[in-house]
Amino acid sequence: MKLSFLGHSCFVVTINNKKILFDPFITYNELAKGIVSADTVEADYILVSHGHADHIADMVAIAQRTGAKVVSNWEIVEWAQKQGLTNVHPMNTGGAWDFGDFKVKCVSAIHSSGLPDGSYGGNPMGFIVTSQEGNFYYSGDTALTLDMQLVPRWASLNFAVFPIGDNFTMNVEDAAAAAEFVKVKQVVGVHYDTFGYIKIDAEKAKADFAASGATLHLVPIGGTIEL
Ligand code: NI
Ligand code: MN
Repeated sequence: MKLSFLGHSCFVVTINNKKILFDPFITYNELAKGIVSADTVEADYILVSHGHADHIADMVAIAQRTGAKVVSNWEIVEWAQKQGLTNVHPMNTGGAWDFGDFKVKCVSAIHSSGLPDGSYGGNPMGFIVTSQEGNFYYSGDTALTLDMQLVPRWASLNFAVFPIGDNFTMNVEDAAAAAEFVKVKQVVGVHYDTFGYIKIDAEKAKADFAASGATLHLVPIGGTIEL
């Protein structure tokens, strides 16, 4: 599977020639300026883990331009409909749905989920995506949680995408433990360096991960890797 990193926690995974965009936050990301643009990103599906602005800021504009189907929790989908979006699919923690090209299972995340305008954003979620081409898990913003030990019951993973920036989410050490819990060796790190609170030492992070027996991929913004 191909993964393109668009900065912060925004990335695209291509499965069966369909582009699944996660947590669109591009326009207000200073690090992404001049490299990627919300005006040109392509999407067939937009999966949103929770309601915080740094995960949803470009959702409405990209969904309107591309016609992509927005998949998130009930409250965020209801909010998306109030913004005028019609191609939506509400889910909630514990549930799975077969979208044809791939299947999504929503799993718990330990975080919060208020929407940018103060609306209630439901509970934050992680996603397990399974398909003919392989399986991956995006935890969303979360603490390390024992619930992650359930993930191998549902999918044997090719890779996982974990936040590593600390302060709001797991740090590198916790993400390495999460990799053990979900039994994965290839991890893509997200949610780091964007703001002052979440700056990391990239080389140290990769070395610490390697010591734990897994590989941490820190993909440059605009970069694509095959996993
Ligand atoms: Ni958040
Ligand atoms: Mn966040």
